[in-house]
Amino acid sequence: MKLGNVLYEKKERIAILTLDDQAKLNALSPGIRQGLMEGFEEVEKDNDVKVAIVTGAGKTFCAGADISGFSFDAVDIKNFLDDVFPALTIGENTSKPVIAAVNGLALGGGLELAIGCDIIIASEKAKFGVPEINLGLLPGFAIVRLHQIIGRSKSKEMSMTGEPISAEEAFRLNMVSKVVPHEKLMDEAMAMARKIGEKPAMALRLAKSSINRKLGGEEIVYARDSMPFLFATEDTREGVTAFLEKRKPVFKDR
Ligand code: COA
Repeated sequence: MKLGNVLYEKKERIAILTLDDQAKLNALSPGIRQGLMEGFEEVEKDNDVKVAIVTGAGKTFCAGADISGFSFDAVDIKNFLDDVFPALTIGENTSKPVIAAVNGLALGGGLELAIGCDIIIASEKAKFGVPEINLGLLPGFAIVRLHQIIGRSKSKEMSMTGEPISAEEAFRLNMVSKVVPHEKLMDEAMAMARKIGEKPAMALRLAKSSINRKLGGEEIVYARDSMPFLFATEDTREGVTAFLEKRKPVFKDR
């Protein structure tokens, strides 16, 4: 079934959620956010589902927040962030195991969606990046999570340069469990989901919550609530406008 812009399928006891808004490279548009929220609600309430897989349709996993939906009004942006953060953190906040099968670019919110999941399997064509700095912004969820996975230096390099890394590098940095040939991605994700799905649900749930226990959560609230400040800067307005006008931004440090 289609939930917003997310295709929801069930195979055996595995739910597969496929982001499908290819005209926007599966950016977290309202339709994608709605589909993720409704899809994971279904994953939680369907006792028959043991494991979920998230992937993207087409050549991209997800190009991040929907830049065309940005506003510079403080109240609008606060409401927007309140709406986006639950989608970014959905993998972490779902009690069942979630596998990200990353088929292509995972940028910004796309990388965040992936690292919120429990296990990432990447196609050899996948790339991971947090390019928000090019818009005068920050990756709200990744800024508090990425360094816990790949370390401070690399996470700062990625956040400060905006440059993406390859699937192989993401593997070396422990962000990704395995890199597989592109055409084998879903088979590999299904094989992993099947293996996990045979295990007892209560022990799986506890494995997830135990390992995630130290993640806290207050830092996410901090990141979310401090973000509207950036939207009030001239540089963020310039960065976002330049992206939409398909030109290089000119930042003034204002
Ligand atoms: N939000 C909204 N629309 C997006 C988008 C996003 N995050 N990323 C891409 N799109 C749209 C583009 O505006 C374009 O739309 P158009 O065809 O109507 O002009 C379409 O998707 C294709 O993107 P395009 O930039 O033409 O493709 P590309 O292959 O040249 O570049 C990217 C791909 C992903 C490198 C580039 O689109 C990009 O940098 N996107 C923004 C990523 C980002 O900053 N994410 C974090 C947001 S906070």
